[in-house]
Amino acid sequence: MSDRQAELDALLVRIAAAPDAEALRAIERETLEKEGVVARLLASIPTLPPQERKATGQWANQMKRAVEEAASARRSAFEAAALDAERSGAGFDATIPGKRPERGSLHPVTRVTRELEDLFTSMGYVVLDGPEVELDWYNFEALNIPRDHPARDMQDTFRCDPEGNVVLRTHTSPGQVRAMERMKPPFRAIVPGKVFRQETTDASHEHTFHQMEGLVVGRDLSVGHLIGAMKTLLRGVFGREIEVRLRPGYFPFVEPGFELDARCPFCTEGCSVCKRSRWIELLPCGMVHPNVLRSGGIDPEVWSGFAFGLGLSRLVMLRYGIDDVRHLLSGDLRFLEQFA
Ligand code: PHE
Repeated sequence: MSDRQAELDALLVRIAAAPDAEALRAIERETLEKEGVVARLLASIPTLPPQERKATGQWANQMKRAVEEAASARRSAFEAAALDAERSGAGFDATIPGKRPERGSLHPVTRVTRELEDLFTSMGYVVLDGPEVELDWYNFEALNIPRDHPARDMQDTFRCDPEGNVVLRTHTSPGQVRAMERMKPPFRAIVPGKVFRQETTDASHEHTFHQMEGLVVGRDLSVGHLIGAMKTLLRGVFGREIEVRLRPGYFPFVEPGFELDARCPFCTEGCSVCKRSRWIELLPCGMVHPNVLRSGGIDPEVWSGFAFGLGLSRLVMLRYGIDDVRHLLSGDLRFLEQFA
């Protein structure tokens, strides 16, 4: 045993005296690695008389630990010395620019969502959230779209259970009914969020995209109020007055229902964005159907409302001139870094 101890002591002395990191590595290699002292010791165990095996094993481990500790201490000493040398001026250049930390940036959808949230809150709307995995009741039934109604064909739905009671929401409109359940009229609310449809994807269709629902409930609301609200919205987004027009549109949860077009904000003579028509299809909207108010526990004899469905993904594409909706969820840094 004392021979061994002497061998180890000698090793430790060599480590403490190692002149540089390379010399230190060499000592570690000859002790700790494949053919090193420790490995050889361990390999010899099966050839030893049984009563010596345990002690030899323990010694090998003890040796390994001692060498590791000593080497690590020596290495710290090298590093401290290097740092001292740097600090004392040798090889230290205070003028070299630092490493720039990598910075993330907000996703364009998040950005536009936040801007609109700010705008709507300034107009007295509250921002609500709703579940992405939604009950069929909120997504369809309560919105005046009964089972077996042909309007169900308008939105191809991911269903989450065999009975079809749970779906991935196909729009943010379930937020209308949830808002009515949560708030006392009169109120104004927006519900931004992710929605899902079973789509074959292409440049303008994606299975996952973003919408922002708007709902205003009050007394004696009319289409005039709806148009007024949308014009205020456009003034907020584009910083000037923008002409709008309504075309009839069918959605079972609004009556009457409309498609609202805005004068193309990008041109005066027609451009690629408005496809030379000078109008941009902005959003579907309408006066909340009495059945929907009833679903939300609101008396349609007393209260009326209007609702609109902003296509957030589409708005983001318009805003930044993005030509393929699939970029939005690609996670491709070459795309995302453009919004830093
Ligand atoms: N939820 C409808 C859709 O996604 C849009 C809409 C919202 C229509 C609100 C009218 C009122 O197609």
